[in-house]
Amino acid sequence: GLPERVTIYEVGPRDGLQNESATVPVEVKAEFVRRLLAAGLPVVEATSFVHPRWVPQLADAAELMTSLVDELGDTARDLPVLVPNERGLDRALELGMRHVAIFGSATETFAQRNLNRGLDEQFAMFEPTVRRARDAGLDVRAYVSMCFGDPWEGEVPVAQVVDVGRLLFDLGASQLSLGDTIGVGTAGHVRALVDGFLAAGMRTDQLAMHFHDTYGQALANAYAALECGITTFDASAGGLGGCPYAHSATGNLATEDLVWMLTGLGIEHGVDLDALVATSVWVAGELGRPSPSAVVRALGSG
Ligand code: HMG
Ligand code: MG
Repeated sequence: GLPERVTIYEVGPRDGLQNESATVPVEVKAEFVRRLLAAGLPVVEATSFVHPRWVPQLADAAELMTSLVDELGDTARDLPVLVPNERGLDRALELGMRHVAIFGSATETFAQRNLNRGLDEQFAMFEPTVRRARDAGLDVRAYVSMCFGDPWEGEVPVAQVVDVGRLLFDLGASQLSLGDTIGVGTAGHVRALVDGFLAAGMRTDQLAMHFHDTYGQALANAYAALECGITTFDASAGGLGGCPYAHSATGNLATEDLVWMLTGLGIEHGVDLDALVATSVWVAGELGRPSPSAVVRALGSG
């Protein structure tokens, strides 16, 4: 049967906003995070300590986290943040952050484009980053991108994704998030990928699924993953999102769409849908365009 409860890992403030070209004021970002937490999201990835020239939208990461610590107290240090390398980790450590996420690529081309490193070179960047994070007592999540298809290389073999994913996880991560960065995956492929990781000795509770909805498959893929026993799902409020280094990537699975499906299935998630929809409607107003989420469109005008 399906799991009784799932954890929604909200990535709106990070994956959702990293792709926005217009500057979003730091006060708006802080309010976005606060409202997501107030809506019951148990995990909210807040920002990235990447190179500010590579992702200008998140150049205010330190300012945002400082203001969240002021407003929410020490618990703000439990919000996960992306760190690509030791420099990013140092910036996160200076602020006392306790959860960091590294992000690797399953393909050579995307490793070059997103990390300025080759597929094999990326591990040399992540190894000391994870080691030092763990020595400092931090929890580390590892993402692997392009798990289904890559805009330059086409379909990505399951075995290649499993090899990269295991290497990243084995650096010392507590969870591996499998990213369909450009949203091309379909339900049967999800099952094959999860089976590949289980055959490589990983457990379902060590895996998270990270779907983008470019081809409208995200919810079907989430359902397929639920059937495989996956209990952590990344999603983005209102369906915001994309990756500036993969132009075919559009928004993530919308948190509202996921919540609607889970509620219908009787699966516990702890999120207040009305509060979440109100948050996405408010953010859409700030960004100046409507949310791509079907559930936000259906409920958001009322
Ligand atoms: P690089 O240019 O190769 O960096 O970029 P470097 O190591 O050669 O260093 C060059 C200079 O940058 C040095 O300064 C460093 O200190 C500085 P200098 O000595 O010349 O004055 N520097 C930094 N400054 C601030 N913060 C840092 C940092 N690192 C170096 N962290 C790098 C390599 C990895 C940094 C760059 O490629 C980068 O920032 N990439 C990030 C791209 C990104 O954020 N992409 C989006 C997130 S991934 C995603 O969205 C996918 C996901 O959602 C899952 C999915 O959907 O699949 C997670
Ligand atoms: Mg993503």
